[in-house]
Amino acid sequence: MSVSRLAKGVLSSLASEPHPSAPRLSGLETLPRPRDVLRPGFLLGAATASHQVEGGNDNDWSEWEKGSFPDGTPHIKEGQVSGAACDSWNRFADDVALLRELGANAYRLSVEWSRLEPEEGAWNEAAADRYLEGMRLLRAQGIQPMVTLNHFTLPRWVAAQGGWENERTVEWIAAFTRRVARKLGGEVDLWCTLNEPNVLTTFGYMDGLWPPGVKDPKRGAQVLARMLRAHARMAAELREHDTVDADGDGQATRVGLSHHVRIFQPATRSPLDRVLAGFTDRFFNQAVVEANRTGRIQLYAPGVADIDEEVPGLKGSYDYLGLNYYTRDMLHSDLRSPKLSRLTVAEGRPVNDLGWELYPEGLYQVLMRYGREGLPIYVTENGMADTSGERRPDFLQRHFEALVRAASEGADVRGYFHWSLMDNFEWAEGYEPRFGLYRVDYSSPEKRREPTPAVATFQALARDLGLEPRARTDAA
Ligand code: BGC
Repeated sequence: MSVSRLAKGVLSSLASEPHPSAPRLSGLETLPRPRDVLRPGFLLGAATASHQVEGGNDNDWSEWEKGSFPDGTPHIKEGQVSGAACDSWNRFADDVALLRELGANAYRLSVEWSRLEPEEGAWNEAAADRYLEGMRLLRAQGIQPMVTLNHFTLPRWVAAQGGWENERTVEWIAAFTRRVARKLGGEVDLWCTLNEPNVLTTFGYMDGLWPPGVKDPKRGAQVLARMLRAHARMAAELREHDTVDADGDGQATRVGLSHHVRIFQPATRSPLDRVLAGFTDRFFNQAVVEANRTGRIQLYAPGVADIDEEVPGLKGSYDYLGLNYYTRDMLHSDLRSPKLSRLTVAEGRPVNDLGWELYPEGLYQVLMRYGREGLPIYVTENGMADTSGERRPDFLQRHFEALVRAASEGADVRGYFHWSLMDNFEWAEGYEPRFGLYRVDYSSPEKRREPTPAVATFQALARDLGLEPRARTDAA
């Protein structure tokens, strides 16, 4: 680590302090109408991920779900496994009917690498055909697919060879991307290479709570860098092999990744809290965004990482910035912890069922902050765990208002995808947290999807944008 980089980091942390002084969301009574502010073609949709909804997947996660930590605690709450999940693999038409009922004009979903390439060099053409059929079905209903190529899971054969710690994974995922682009490119224009490299790195390689269960921040930083190298390769493959402009807007591909952004607010005015909030912000939030502008991976955290590397193809590899926004954290310095800090919720603030603060102003703040990057933005995820379903309408309404406010002040926001279309397998938390606009009755054989009160809120937003919710036909 060079002294000048350390000094630069400290100074920028103290100087920028982006969040405490960030503009507040106010004046909702004067909020402009969404349709007057949002561009024509604004995408209003919902999001899911293959492993969380499809059911019957066989990958590094399904293996991890069977295991426990050294103290005997199961990897997944109550020892649950993803199993049949929402059975979306067999009930895709039901899910499309839900999107129609919502009035959505877009759906963010992922394709499952382990299904398409279950063994090294093997390709499951029948599974690829099924995905293609799904894309056609969506488009026939006026729903634009946004396809994520990798949402956390790896095929077993990739994981067995070191997963994201093996540089060859970059080649393997690039080759996978090429095949998917050729297969689905005629129906898909909007691509998301990777979901939340920063979250996977944190949980899988720093906290050890997700596969592969590594607790080593240095290795985590290397993985984050490798994932950005993979993104650059995947973006190039998509642009070369998806040459069909499916929606006729003059662009055959629009490529980005989904980046999880969090607000790290220093818990006190102590300089150490402020400096560490700044470092955490740079590492977790900024590095992935800046990579597109600089073409470099720059990861610095005191004693953990000092990576500064130019990556061919990284500069300008985002056509859009995908932001997943959920919450804010108060950061307390804690020099005994490997991450040098611990996070808490601001006192007295409302939280969701997982204890995450509900902070709609934060969505406004991140959109204003990243709106300066000069890239179109899609909010690729935003949602709350709410078993009652009673609090989600207000959550959705207030976050959408925050988005409209940011758009009215110049942020180039092109879409909003609610997480999630329906309840699903919430990774280490299992099935208890419910994020769905539709509640899933896991005990029913057909995994019945039942509307929560937020469906009406979503429909009202859709109508306001000129989209037409249509009655759900019984597609089951
Ligand atoms: C992930 C989703 C997850 C959601 C809620 C996001 O970070 O992309 O897979 O279910 O958060 O925790």
